[in-house]
Amino acid sequence: MRIATIVGARPQFIKAAAGSRALRKFHNEVLIHTGQHYDDNMSAVFFRELGIPEPDYNLGISGGSHAQMTSRMLTSIESILLKETPDAVLVYGDTNSTLAGALAAVKLHIPVIHVEAGNRLGTLDSPEEVNRIMTDHISTLDFCATEDALQKLQNEGLGDRAYCVGNIMYDSYLYYSDLAWDTPQVISFDGDKTPIPQEYYFMTCHREENTYSDDPLTEILMAMNSLDAPTIYAVHPRNHNRAKRVCEMHGFSNIILTQPVGYIDSVHLVKNAKKIVTDSGGLQCEAFYAGVQCVFVLDYVVWPETMVGNRNQLAKADHADIISKLSVSQTIDPNYHPFGDGHAAEKICSILSNWERNDKK
Ligand code: UD1
Ligand code: UDP
Repeated sequence: MRIATIVGARPQFIKAAAGSRALRKFHNEVLIHTGQHYDDNMSAVFFRELGIPEPDYNLGISGGSHAQMTSRMLTSIESILLKETPDAVLVYGDTNSTLAGALAAVKLHIPVIHVEAGNRLGTLDSPEEVNRIMTDHISTLDFCATEDALQKLQNEGLGDRAYCVGNIMYDSYLYYSDLAWDTPQVISFDGDKTPIPQEYYFMTCHREENTYSDDPLTEILMAMNSLDAPTIYAVHPRNHNRAKRVCEMHGFSNIILTQPVGYIDSVHLVKNAKKIVTDSGGLQCEAFYAGVQCVFVLDYVVWPETMVGNRNQLAKADHADIISKLSVSQTIDPNYHPFGDGHAAEKICSILSNWERNDKK
């Protein structure tokens, strides 16, 4: 089959690292990068470090409102699909690139394959939730990372197209986290190399819910600044100015602000951290894989599977709540593996081959 894969944002590059490697053994892939993330450390570094094939197209579309970004992607993707005439379009996750790719394809009657389908927060206030629900419902095949996500799709009447294959991010985690960590340092905002302290907390924070004003980030950083070891905060570019200003204004000297790091650095920073504080869907799972306790700063659960034995706890963007959640210890059941066996990409390929033989119309 000829499959057009659409990527655009950081977590999609990490998923595509596993996805494209498996897909290209059996199928012909056209890789389309929307350009949603474009800085070297938000995009190119992943292609370089993870050996992801060069995109066949980069649309260079980023920024603006959700509608502006999505609509520009929609028309550009449509013209490429008309030219390339793929048998199916594959999209990952829940970003604006996901929705634009799925919508462009379904309008051209090209089957859509959605990887990481079925996750639900239960609120349409989250832009990612809107993208997920829409994409799941217009896809021909929905691949879920967990049994819970599969169940949610069954509840929405999508069970006949849905498969639980495991989390493709876990494929990448297993594949790359065993590689040696050659550069145990981070890059400051000024471009200086900063050594990583022996003991540290690792933090990321970029969701719209926590970045619309200074208040949530100030609360989170106030909590981190009070801890018994420094916090390495790898800052998403949308938060760069705010993070710098808040730290300077409040004199938060126990926080090390760094540029975004590559994936190999990110998983090693997770593995070696005392604890993790994040609002990232992907990072909380990596903390779980690594057995490092996580506090997830959001009002909603993203991965219910991780919320066991205090391994991942919800906290409000409130310094006292975060400190209190960080103060409890976790319990790990070594036999509990809700994210599959690290072979989600191969399972997807095998289901695609059967579908091509039997069901594809
Ligand atoms: C997007 C995804 C989110 C994902 C996140 C991080 C949607 C709706 N959200 O949010 O699910 O968790 O990516 O992976 O798609 N910017 C840069 N350089 C870059 C990229 C972004 O400066 O390389 C800045 C721009 O000012 C941009 C802003 O960050 O306007 C926000 O980027 P955008 O892609 O719109 O949203 P994310 O917050 O990255
Ligand atoms: N990540 C990274 N560099 C960073 C921060 C995160 O490589 O500076 C990785 C992280 O290890 C995880 C993924 O990016 O695999 C999570 O993506 P992100 O937080 O951007 O999006 P989300 O998970 O919220 O969709």
